[in-house]
Amino acid sequence: MKTAARLELLPVTPEAAAVVHELYLRCPTYIALIGGDTPTLNDIQRELETLRHDTRRQAYLLFQEGKVIGFLDYKVAYPDLHSATVSLLLIDERLQNQGLGKLVVEQLEQLLSGRTERLFAVVYGNNEKAKAFWKRQGYTHAHDGGPSLSWYVKNLSN
Ligand code: ACO
Repeated sequence: MKTAARLELLPVTPEAAAVVHELYLRCPTYIALIGGDTPTLNDIQRELETLRHDTRRQAYLLFQEGKVIGFLDYKVAYPDLHSATVSLLLIDERLQNQGLGKLVVEQLEQLLSGRTERLFAVVYGNNEKAKAFWKRQGYTHAHDGGPSLSWYVKNLSN
Protein backbone atom coordinates (compact mmCIF):
# COMPACT_ATOMS: atom_id res chain seq x y z
CA MET A 1 0.00 0.00 0.00
CA LYS A 2 1.29 3.51 -0.89
CA THR A 3 2.13 5.89 1.91
CA ALA A 4 0.11 9.04 1.40
CA ALA A 5 1.27 12.55 2.29
CA ARG A 6 -0.87 14.66 4.60
CA LEU A 7 -4.02 15.89 2.91
CA GLU A 8 -5.45 19.39 2.65
CA LEU A 9 -9.09 19.87 3.60
CA LEU A 10 -10.61 22.95 1.97
CA PRO A 11 -14.16 24.06 2.80
CA VAL A 12 -16.53 23.59 -0.12
CA THR A 13 -18.47 26.58 -1.40
CA PRO A 14 -21.28 26.51 -4.01
CA GLU A 15 -18.74 27.95 -6.47
CA ALA A 16 -16.93 24.60 -6.33
CA ALA A 17 -20.01 22.69 -7.53
CA ALA A 18 -18.41 21.76 -10.86
CA VAL A 19 -15.39 20.24 -9.13
CA VAL A 20 -17.58 18.24 -6.74
CA HIS A 21 -19.72 17.13 -9.69
CA GLU A 22 -16.64 15.89 -11.58
CA LEU A 23 -15.63 13.89 -8.52
CA TYR A 24 -19.04 12.19 -8.42
CA LEU A 25 -18.70 11.35 -12.12
CA ARG A 26 -15.43 9.64 -11.27
CA CYS A 27 -17.19 7.40 -8.71
CA PRO A 28 -19.73 5.37 -10.81
CA THR A 29 -19.44 2.25 -8.62
CA TYR A 30 -20.57 4.17 -5.54
CA ILE A 31 -23.46 5.83 -7.41
CA ALA A 32 -24.61 2.41 -8.66
CA LEU A 33 -24.26 0.95 -5.17
CA ILE A 34 -26.53 3.51 -3.54
CA GLY A 35 -28.98 2.98 -6.39
CA GLY A 36 -29.37 6.62 -7.32
CA ASP A 37 -29.08 8.50 -10.58
CA THR A 38 -25.82 10.27 -11.20
CA PRO A 39 -26.33 13.74 -9.71
CA THR A 40 -26.48 16.62 -12.16
CA LEU A 41 -24.47 19.78 -11.71
CA ASN A 42 -27.72 21.43 -10.63
CA ASP A 43 -28.27 18.78 -7.93
CA ILE A 44 -24.80 19.45 -6.56
CA GLN A 45 -25.29 23.22 -6.67
CA ARG A 46 -28.55 22.89 -4.72
CA GLU A 47 -26.93 20.57 -2.17
CA LEU A 48 -24.03 22.96 -1.60
CA GLU A 49 -26.47 25.87 -1.19
CA THR A 50 -28.37 23.86 1.44
CA LEU A 51 -25.11 23.14 3.16
CA ARG A 52 -24.15 26.79 3.31
CA HIS A 53 -27.24 27.48 5.46
CA ASP A 54 -26.52 24.74 7.98
CA THR A 55 -23.73 25.97 10.24
CA ARG A 56 -23.23 22.50 11.74
CA ARG A 57 -22.55 20.85 8.35
CA GLN A 58 -18.89 20.82 7.37
CA ALA A 59 -18.06 19.88 3.82
CA TYR A 60 -14.55 19.74 2.46
CA LEU A 61 -12.82 19.01 -0.79
CA LEU A 62 -9.81 16.83 -0.11
CA PHE A 63 -6.56 17.62 -1.89
CA GLN A 64 -3.30 15.75 -2.18
CA GLU A 65 -0.42 17.61 -3.78
CA GLY A 66 -2.83 20.12 -5.31
CA LYS A 67 -5.17 17.50 -6.84
CA VAL A 68 -8.73 16.80 -5.72
CA ILE A 69 -8.86 13.26 -4.33
CA GLY A 70 -12.18 13.27 -2.49
CA PHE A 71 -15.00 14.87 -0.58
CA LEU A 72 -15.93 14.81 3.10
CA ASP A 73 -19.24 15.84 4.63
CA TYR A 74 -19.80 15.73 8.38
CA LYS A 75 -21.95 17.46 10.96
CA VAL A 76 -20.81 18.74 14.35
CA ALA A 77 -22.93 18.60 17.52
CA TYR A 78 -24.92 15.77 15.96
CA PRO A 79 -26.73 13.57 16.99
CA ASP A 80 -25.94 15.18 20.36
CA LEU A 81 -23.79 18.09 21.55
CA HIS A 82 -20.79 15.85 22.28
CA SER A 83 -20.74 14.01 18.97
CA ALA A 84 -20.08 14.59 15.30
CA THR A 85 -21.27 12.47 12.38
CA VAL A 86 -19.70 11.72 9.01
CA SER A 87 -22.40 11.34 6.38
CA LEU A 88 -20.09 10.94 3.40
CA LEU A 89 -16.45 10.24 2.76
CA LEU A 90 -15.93 9.81 -0.96
CA ILE A 91 -12.53 9.00 -2.45
CA ASP A 92 -11.99 9.22 -6.22
CA GLU A 93 -12.62 5.67 -7.44
CA ARG A 94 -9.26 5.47 -9.24
CA LEU A 95 -7.49 6.28 -5.96
CA GLN A 96 -9.36 3.97 -3.58
CA ASN A 97 -7.59 1.23 -1.59
CA GLN A 98 -4.35 3.22 -1.38
CA GLY A 99 -4.73 4.38 2.21
CA LEU A 100 -6.29 7.79 1.45
CA GLY A 101 -9.60 7.11 3.22
CA LYS A 102 -7.73 5.99 6.30
CA LEU A 103 -5.63 9.16 6.21
CA VAL A 104 -8.75 11.37 6.00
CA VAL A 105 -10.31 9.64 9.01
CA GLU A 106 -7.08 10.01 11.01
CA GLN A 107 -6.89 13.73 10.19
CA LEU A 108 -10.56 14.28 11.01
CA GLU A 109 -10.20 12.48 14.34
CA GLN A 110 -7.19 14.69 15.19
CA LEU A 111 -9.17 17.79 14.24
CA LEU A 112 -12.14 16.85 16.41
CA SER A 113 -10.24 15.33 19.29
CA GLY A 114 -10.61 17.41 22.48
CA ARG A 115 -13.74 19.12 21.08
CA THR A 116 -15.92 16.09 20.40
CA GLU A 117 -16.26 12.96 22.46
CA ARG A 118 -17.56 10.64 19.77
CA LEU A 119 -17.42 10.40 16.02
CA PHE A 120 -20.21 8.56 14.23
CA ALA A 121 -20.22 7.35 10.63
CA VAL A 122 -23.56 6.68 8.96
CA VAL A 123 -23.39 4.13 6.17
CA TYR A 124 -26.25 4.27 3.69
CA GLY A 125 -27.54 1.20 1.89
CA ASN A 126 -25.94 -2.16 1.40
CA ASN A 127 -22.41 -0.79 1.40
CA GLU A 128 -20.36 -3.67 2.80
CA LYS A 129 -17.07 -2.14 1.70
CA ALA A 130 -17.79 1.02 3.68
CA LYS A 131 -18.85 -0.97 6.75
CA ALA A 132 -15.62 -2.99 6.59
CA PHE A 133 -13.64 0.22 6.13
CA TRP A 134 -15.11 1.94 9.22
CA LYS A 135 -14.65 -1.21 11.33
CA ARG A 136 -11.02 -1.32 10.20
CA GLN A 137 -10.62 2.26 11.50
CA GLY A 138 -11.79 1.12 14.97
CA TYR A 139 -15.50 2.01 14.69
CA THR A 140 -18.10 -0.33 16.13
CA HIS A 141 -21.65 -0.84 15.01
CA ALA A 142 -23.91 1.33 17.19
CA HIS A 143 -27.37 0.76 15.74
CA ASP A 144 -29.37 0.59 12.54
CA GLY A 145 -31.61 3.51 11.67
CA GLY A 146 -34.26 1.75 9.66
CA PRO A 147 -33.43 -0.75 6.93
CA SER A 148 -30.94 1.41 5.05
CA LEU A 149 -28.80 3.25 7.61
CA SER A 150 -26.09 1.69 9.75
CA TRP A 151 -24.47 3.85 12.42
CA TYR A 152 -20.87 3.21 13.50
CA VAL A 153 -19.14 5.00 16.36
CA LYS A 154 -15.71 5.59 17.89
CA ASN A 155 -14.88 7.28 21.18
CA LEU A 156 -12.38 10.09 20.56
CA SER A 157 -11.63 10.99 24.17
CA ASN A 158 -8.46 9.40 25.56
N1 ACO B 1 -12.79 -4.74 3.40
C1 ACO B 1 -11.94 -4.75 4.45
N2 ACO B 1 -11.07 -3.77 4.69
C2 ACO B 1 -11.05 -2.74 3.84
C3 ACO B 1 -11.89 -2.65 2.73
C4 ACO B 1 -12.78 -3.72 2.53
N3 ACO B 1 -13.61 -3.76 1.48
N4 ACO B 1 -11.63 -1.49 2.07
C5 ACO B 1 -10.63 -0.89 2.73
N5 ACO B 1 -10.28 -1.65 3.78
C6 ACO B 1 -9.21 -1.42 4.71
C7 ACO B 1 -7.90 -1.41 3.95
O1 ACO B 1 -7.37 -2.72 3.84
C8 ACO B 1 -7.08 -0.54 4.83
O2 ACO B 1 -6.59 -1.28 5.92
P1 ACO B 1 -5.03 -1.23 6.30
O3 ACO B 1 -4.67 0.21 6.43
O4 ACO B 1 -4.94 -1.98 7.56
O5 ACO B 1 -4.34 -1.89 5.13
C9 ACO B 1 -8.05 0.45 5.43
O6 ACO B 1 -9.35 -0.13 5.28
C10 ACO B 1 -7.97 1.77 4.76
O7 ACO B 1 -8.33 1.64 3.39
P2 ACO B 1 -8.15 2.87 2.41
O8 ACO B 1 -7.28 2.47 1.26
O9 ACO B 1 -7.74 4.04 3.20
O10 ACO B 1 -9.63 3.04 1.88
P3 ACO B 1 -10.10 4.05 0.72
O11 ACO B 1 -9.12 5.11 0.45
O12 ACO B 1 -10.53 3.24 -0.45
O13 ACO B 1 -11.36 4.73 1.40
C11 ACO B 1 -13.75 4.51 1.24
C12 ACO B 1 -12.45 3.93 1.80
C13 ACO B 1 -13.98 5.90 1.81
C14 ACO B 1 -14.89 3.58 1.64
C15 ACO B 1 -13.59 4.61 -0.30
O14 ACO B 1 -13.37 3.33 -0.82
C16 ACO B 1 -14.79 5.25 -1.01
O15 ACO B 1 -14.81 6.45 -1.24
N6 ACO B 1 -15.78 4.42 -1.40
C17 ACO B 1 -16.95 4.93 -2.15
C18 ACO B 1 -17.80 5.84 -1.32
C19 ACO B 1 -18.21 5.23 0.00
O16 ACO B 1 -18.75 4.13 0.05
N7 ACO B 1 -17.91 5.97 1.07
C20 ACO B 1 -18.29 5.57 2.42
C21 ACO B 1 -19.73 5.86 2.65
S1 ACO B 1 -20.17 5.68 4.35
C22 ACO B 1 -19.68 7.14 5.06
O17 ACO B 1 -19.02 7.93 4.43
C23 ACO B 1 -20.04 7.41 6.49
